[in-house]
Amino acid sequence: MQVIDSMDRPLRALRISVTDRCNFRCPYCMPRDRFGEHHNYLDRSQILSFEEIERLARIFVGLGVEKVRLTGGEPLLRHELPVLVARLRSIVGLKEVTLTTNGTLLESLAQPLRDAGLDRLTVSLDSLDVDRFSALSDATLGLERVLAGLDAASKAGFGPIKLNCVLQRGVNEADILPLAEFARDQGHTLRFIEFMDVGTGNDWKLERVVPASEVLQKLAARWSLESFHRDCLNCVAQHYRYLDGKGEVGLIASVTEPFCQGCDRARLSAEGKLYTCLFASEGLDLRSFLRAGNSDSDLQAVVQNRWRKREDRYSELRTEMTAPQPRVEMFHIGG
Ligand code: GTP
Ligand code: 5AD
Ligand code: SF4
Ligand code: SF4
Repeated sequence: MQVIDSMDRPLRALRISVTDRCNFRCPYCMPRDRFGEHHNYLDRSQILSFEEIERLARIFVGLGVEKVRLTGGEPLLRHELPVLVARLRSIVGLKEVTLTTNGTLLESLAQPLRDAGLDRLTVSLDSLDVDRFSALSDATLGLERVLAGLDAASKAGFGPIKLNCVLQRGVNEADILPLAEFARDQGHTLRFIEFMDVGTGNDWKLERVVPASEVLQKLAARWSLESFHRDCLNCVAQHYRYLDGKGEVGLIASVTEPFCQGCDRARLSAEGKLYTCLFASEGLDLRSFLRAGNSDSDLQAVVQNRWRKREDRYSELRTEMTAPQPRVEMFHIGG
């Protein structure tokens, strides 16, 4: 069955956060002054078990979901993640299981994830400059670990790997061309993401957004590019290919050219709350329904009703909003 929301948008993709922990402290997501040593993470009993995640994923697949993306926090911090991947991969009707990671733990986990059936991999990489990278991640684990992780992932057969770079004005614009060069050489697919006002801690201002159009100009001044249509279901990126045959690059213009009209994503937090928008204030507590002993069909009805009522289109409304709304944090729903 395919469930449709109030604006005729199908539910096709589910992003599952498997942990709220992260070994980075990116200032735009988990600034260290708010997420210090004594930060209280969710405890084990609060987060969904693999059994619970698999059960919910099956229910979502029954409502039209074809793609699952695992996120965090940093998803590779979740103990035995390949076991979860293998369980999800066995769900009939699910076409793809993918993962977004900061890459620090890939060196040892890339191969087990591949063996478990993970289809694709996205690695966040905001800079190739050692100092900027450490400022942007505010962590002791450095760029080298991520680069070694990328190598291991390529060897494990994950190519082309997607690289996500969030650009901030005055912070990492100097990384645009070096990152593009690196991705071209290594056979990765780089995507530049406009800095968004997600969560409550990142001091977002429109002036800090580097518009995708500007990035395109910079790239086009260096390489010949052509735009092309990729046959993916409601993909968020605009795609360009290098005319010299060295792969492609994507632009995610989530602020300047919002894509809410085709938004087919649901997000499940590590504690089992369902969010129907990256900018949602409230999640629906599916964990309570699960743990109260409801049947699969009862759970399916709960999710279905929630999706049918969905009206979210935050990015299209952003500029019309005056008062700030409460918002879920990025590390709870993983982007
Ligand atoms: P696939 O289509 O599965 O390859 O994934 P993707 O292209 O969605 O890639 P990914 O999940 O890595 O998304 C890239 C980034 O785009 C996210 O980290 C967000 O920053 C942004 N993004 C993704 N989905 C949405 C969305 O629904 N709304 C908004 N506003 N931004 C999104
Ligand atoms: N704006 C845009 N992208 C963001 N991400 C984290 N915070 C933001 C933000 N404010 C990205 C991360 C990662 C993905 C999961 O989301 O860099 O690639
Ligand atoms: Fe950075 Fe991602 Fe960790 Fe947030 S979850 S602190 S964006 S690595
Ligand atoms: Fe979807 Fe919300 Fe992003 Fe719009 S702002 S694309 S509705 S997640």
